[in-house]
Amino acid sequence: MSQRFSALEENLKAHGQSHLLACYHELNELQQRALLDQLSQIDFAALEKLIEDYVRNRPAVCIPEDLSPAPYYRHDPKGPGGYDAADYRRVGEDLIRRGKVAAFTVAGGQGTRLGWSGPKGTYPATVVTGKPLFRWFAEQILATERKYGVTIPWYIMTSPMNHEATRAFFQDNNNFSLERKNIFMFPQGVLPSIETATGKLLLADRHRLAVNPDGHGGSIRALHECGAIEDMVGRGIEHISYFQIDNPLVKAVDPLFVGLHAAADDSSGEMSSKMLPKITPEEKLGVFCRSEGKTLVIEYSDLPEDLMYARDERGHLRFLSGSIAIHLLSVGFVQRLTADAHHFALPYHRADKKVPYYDTDQRRVVEPSELNSVKLETFVFDAIPLADSSIIYETSRVEEFGPIKNAEGVDSPATSHQLQSDRAGAWLETVGLEVPRDDEGRVNARIEISPLIALESGDLASAVDLPERIEPGSEIVIQPPRKQMFR
Ligand code: UTP
Repeated sequence: MSQRFSALEENLKAHGQSHLLACYHELNELQQRALLDQLSQIDFAALEKLIEDYVRNRPAVCIPEDLSPAPYYRHDPKGPGGYDAADYRRVGEDLIRRGKVAAFTVAGGQGTRLGWSGPKGTYPATVVTGKPLFRWFAEQILATERKYGVTIPWYIMTSPMNHEATRAFFQDNNNFSLERKNIFMFPQGVLPSIETATGKLLLADRHRLAVNPDGHGGSIRALHECGAIEDMVGRGIEHISYFQIDNPLVKAVDPLFVGLHAAADDSSGEMSSKMLPKITPEEKLGVFCRSEGKTLVIEYSDLPEDLMYARDERGHLRFLSGSIAIHLLSVGFVQRLTADAHHFALPYHRADKKVPYYDTDQRRVVEPSELNSVKLETFVFDAIPLADSSIIYETSRVEEFGPIKNAEGVDSPATSHQLQSDRAGAWLETVGLEVPRDDEGRVNARIEISPLIALESGDLASAVDLPERIEPGSEIVIQPPRKQMFR
């Protein structure tokens, strides 16, 4: 161990990070080993370049000169640029039925804005019964399995910080009646947190670096490194339905989207995305664009104002397509990107954070009052331009967008609850129920429909025991009797 220590000591000195070993001789043997293990995994030469480019400097935002709005498949297939939605849906259903599609949830984030102490997937999210997000998606997967008579394996990316808690949550809940062997949970990679003022790595404790998950873009490498891709190949999976844990309205597996992704003429079937038309120019959604024949997403904070506010001849926002982080990726695409895993990297993005750290001079943990640290992460949408030809499909806001990001205000449990009721109400109206609405047209009742009753409005046609009336302000839960819900 002393040889390892000496080699590391020299390496750290060469890269201005000697403080990381300042307390080494005060640690017990276990702690020493843990610290050496953690530090040995870091390529300090590569990290120094990142620190120079992203911490000491801020990378310039490069907006391509030929940037244009990305085309998309409209939600209404009968409008201009129409397409045969029924046919694509059949293709998607066939792929699902033949066991070619897996569900993939990224749940490794830190959820700092929500301020929930456990993994975000354990958050009680549904409007009446407060089902945790993991249970909600498990019901969707179970319902999809029953509808198509197939196994839908569920891949869940956690982080080293929440992996154990996530695993325990599933175990405590009997895996929500899914077969354990069809749930594949794996932690994503991490990156060190870097002190903004000095470019030095922060320690969380005397024997532990402060780290953060490497962003949802880390999912591509993690799928490969943790053996999920190999598992998919073994099961004959061809397409991965990617969604985030914090939007309960997402359709975990959407047949029409699968069909378009796999079979549309202009799709290479490698990576496809769903979009929503932005409501306002300032709405904080990345925007789908085209450059040099490739589809890409420009982050909302990077979009120059003249493009953000630009309008077309009909007065519509020119850069209209907002990304809502719903994608399909083919297994082959992830395999291609990670074939040389050592050299595969998505671009980094910088976020400034407040990170508690162990001060080696004061020999104590300091809670900073100001932003003190840079968190580097990668974003999955940066893989889109790496696909040969990537398509976008417009979904409906009421159908698929009710994220829970913040404790209060926009994208909070309260806004998501209203959106969940709005969608459930709209579905009930399709089968002839009168649903109370307020002056703004929002549903004036709290309505929850279990995915085991309906995955989409069309499933309600065969549902029994629907309520006859919905009183304004009432609470309605539509779900099967408990014994039918779970095996
Ligand atoms: P967000 O970008 O909203 O981040 O993640 P977050 O970490 O959940 O929350 P804040 O920013 O700390 O408040 C969007 C989705 O991507 C996942 C999250 O779990 C969520 O489903 N994610 C994010 C990861 O899986 N890993 C990451 O490193 C970051």
